[in-house]
Amino acid sequence: MGDIVIAIDGFSGTGKSSTAKKVASALGYTYIDSGAMYRCVARYFIDHQIDFEEEEEVIVALDEILISFRFNKALNASEILLNGQIMDHQIRLPEINEIVSQIAAQPLIRKKLVNRQQALGLHKSMVMDGRDIGTVVFPDAALKIFMTADLDIRTKRRHEELEGQGIQVTSEEIKKNLASRDRLDTTRIDSPLIKAADAIALDSSYLTFDGQVKEIIDLANKIIYEG
Ligand code: DC
Repeated sequence: MGDIVIAIDGFSGTGKSSTAKKVASALGYTYIDSGAMYRCVARYFIDHQIDFEEEEEVIVALDEILISFRFNKALNASEILLNGQIMDHQIRLPEINEIVSQIAAQPLIRKKLVNRQQALGLHKSMVMDGRDIGTVVFPDAALKIFMTADLDIRTKRRHEELEGQGIQVTSEEIKKNLASRDRLDTTRIDSPLIKAADAIALDSSYLTFDGQVKEIIDLANKIIYEG
């Protein structure tokens, strides 16, 4: 029986993060949200007025940034900390959404975060989700999942989720934003979002949340117990 790394990549709005979190908790594994790490860098750059296009500034800033994770027993989830401060809604604000894709496209920033992600995965027993986990961060991961879902279905789900939070946005705006993020993530030069050759494609368009979680857990158990 071996502990494995599970890499979950895919498009925005496919339910990647909530799926990865549930899979990790069912297996007793650590969950790392790599997108949250890019969001922390965006938070720091905004707070310290760092221009991500100025290489010298970026190098100095990256040396000042420490991203860590801490398990919160009460929440039964891990929290992300930026220089010792818990980051929650601060990294989910519209001002972060606006800039994070450009931050994530910068090679110097990717290099630092990929090194950190690889160090976090050394002990295995880990589920990490993102865009380049199966291709760049853990090319040898025992299980790689590539999540997709129809754009209209992702739009509808995101719309319902935002309405549930009392946030008024039109379907058209959501669809446009998702399509634009798909384009930025798949066309950037450094580590674009692509399916690793050995990743298993999971189209969540017509799966329930529990259904997609079960599918991944079954695949993981097969590898963990049968090799
Ligand atoms: O998954 P998310 O929306 O929280 O990700 C935030 C941004 O970071 C998004 O623009 C994609 C990018 N990202 C990335 O380039 N590589 C990763 N491994 C994870 C996220």
